[in-house]
Amino acid sequence: MQVIIVKDKAEMGKTAAEIVAGGMRAKEHFVLGLATGTTPIPLYRELIRMHKEDGLDFSTTASFNLDEYVGIPGTHDQSYRFFMNRELFDHVNINKKATHVPDGMADDVEMFCAEYEAMIADCGGVDCQILGIGSNGHIGFNEPGTSLGSRTHRTALTESTIKDNSRLFEKVEDVPTEAITMGIGTILESESILLLANGANKAKAVADAIEGPITATCPASALQLHPNVTFILTEDAAADLKLEWHRG
Ligand code: F6R
Repeated sequence: MQVIIVKDKAEMGKTAAEIVAGGMRAKEHFVLGLATGTTPIPLYRELIRMHKEDGLDFSTTASFNLDEYVGIPGTHDQSYRFFMNRELFDHVNINKKATHVPDGMADDVEMFCAEYEAMIADCGGVDCQILGIGSNGHIGFNEPGTSLGSRTHRTALTESTIKDNSRLFEKVEDVPTEAITMGIGTILESESILLLANGANKAKAVADAIEGPITATCPASALQLHPNVTFILTEDAAADLKLEWHRG
């Protein structure tokens, strides 16, 4: 487990982008696992800069997003498909057909979840999975109590996640109450994992994930089982860690 503590979210984004770009340059058909939310935005900005200024090539890269709300289409401005187009895909030379975000409007959600797993496997698995973390320790939409072996599935969002996400909707009643998410077992099959966190509101979840027991009560603690996971944290998000970690 590698923990890198940086001074601010701009540095968090740059550090993560260096790692992602290194992987993309080393492997032609790179498969990225992507997250939405505010945390990865500095990473996506830096990847866009690298594409425009340094020629970072996305043409043979494929991507799989972690999750999507159930009940809103990809054209909805709060859908995760819309977010990914706006924050990354529309600004780089990725083949949109090779970008995958779960379909929140699927007629048969359970069947879709099985197909999503099969699509990831057909692409050879995720090479680098980007994660944020919820203030309750969730990864993807795997809320506390989710089986650590779970696969892509439909899930109900907790009150705390609905409240956290309501800042992006006009009113809390507009926040969808269900989502499709890769499972914790799915995430753990990625070749490498990068979890980013910034902000004091993430400090407890980060400390529980890295230094607490492995427990479904803190889904991110399952990452301790992964042989190639890197946490990139700002000082405030790392504030509750007790062990001595590298400060970069
Ligand atoms: C988003 C996702 C979530 C977020 C988490 C943190 O695709 O899977 O687990 O990473 O809720 O969200 P932010 O970054 O908005 O604090």
